[in-house]
Amino acid sequence: MKARLDMLCGAISRALDIVEEELYHASEYHCMRIAVLSTAMGRQLNLPENRLIALSIAALFHDSALTEYIRSEQTGDDQEENLHLHCELGQRNLETLPFATDISGLVLYHHEHADGTGPFGKRKGEFPLEAELIALADHIDVRVPLQRVLVGNLPWLLGRVKELAQGSFSQEVIDALLTVLDEQMLVSLRNDYIHASLDKALPSWSIDLHDPAIIHISQMIARIIDYKSVFTRKHTIQIANRAYVMADYYGYDDSQKGQIYLAAALHDIGKIAIPLAVLEKPGQLDSQEFKVIQRHVSYTLDWLSMIPGFEDICQWASNHHEKLDGSGYPLGKTAKDLDFNSRLLACIDIYQAVSEKRPYHDARSHEDTMAILQSMANNGLVDMRITADIDAVMAPYSLKDVPLPTCLQDGCHV
Ligand SMILES: [Fe+2]
Ligand SMILES: [Fe+2]
Ligand SMILES: [Fe+2]
Ligand SMILES: [Fe+2]
Repeated sequence: MKARLDMLCGAISRALDIVEEELYHASEYHCMRIAVLSTAMGRQLNLPENRLIALSIAALFHDSALTEYIRSEQTGDDQEENLHLHCELGQRNLETLPFATDISGLVLYHHEHADGTGPFGKRKGEFPLEAELIALADHIDVRVPLQRVLVGNLPWLLGRVKELAQGSFSQEVIDALLTVLDEQMLVSLRNDYIHASLDKALPSWSIDLHDPAIIHISQMIARIIDYKSVFTRKHTIQIANRAYVMADYYGYDDSQKGQIYLAAALHDIGKIAIPLAVLEKPGQLDSQEFKVIQRHVSYTLDWLSMIPGFEDICQWASNHHEKLDGSGYPLGKTAKDLDFNSRLLACIDIYQAVSEKRPYHDARSHEDTMAILQSMANNGLVDMRITADIDAVMAPYSLKDVPLPTCLQDGCHV
């Protein structure tokens, strides 16, 4: 079964853009614009298809480590060191994806200038052309509101690009940008067109759902989501690890384990769109705030349902707050609509949320957590058999983290 990896990357990047806007006050859809622009520049420079794929995905993820970067910035660390860290962690995120071409330096050097004045002091020829394309698009987008430039102001914009780029970037890269920045491009960079423009710009890239790389991609997604809030820092990765352990217990094959792991990694991706003030509120949420937080599953459903090949994964991920008696959300599904993996992720999500430390409760032991999960099973909200299995399998991990699947600890694949 093949799934569109380019569209999954697009969905993650949409989510990332929301975080960056909220935490970093970056302009809306920054990474999507950089991807559309730099891919067009790469096409203009006749890059072959596999390099275009790597370029477009690197552009989408060029700021993927921004949340990690901002968190360390908030601790008052050295600015220059932070910029290095931002580039290094972003490169590490990119390297989890299974490219068929060399991607070294693509994100690592996305703040370099051809004249050697970037954070790593690299000059033209010492870092990849793709990184320079991303760097120039980024350099312009943070200085000029490209999403709002009117078509009639194109000559002004081209003059401004020359002014801002001359000296710092190579002529070949400046010329590529000046060529692709036409009236049609200006329209496609507008906020109301950018989603459609991204779908058109991304070269098609599929992954087999049996590919072991799925686990590594999942870990990157989980890490990005968990960095949104200090209070849920380990929530996603722990749910993915617990799902893997349960899948092992049920005798799933490697491919099934990979898919449930990915669904678990994606289940709360919609939380990225929820304001931090609500996510990190110390104390119980009022009914209005609870409604806001409930929307996260609708975002998960919206984003994942767009990806061909992700039909099952989307169901399992977006059913995690549904209850067997129809009292859950977002759709109020009942037992007949909830398959085994949906029920499994729902139970694991409750187990993790109840057991982990939150602003309004301390970490709970396995026994205390099971008392809550069991009473929900007794009341017909969650699956009774899965609850019993979780009781048996999770007991050894009371007040401890569930480690990564062993196959990932020693660097081998599933
Ligand atoms: Fe950056
Ligand atoms: Fe950026
Ligand atoms: Fe959730
Ligand atoms: Fe969750």
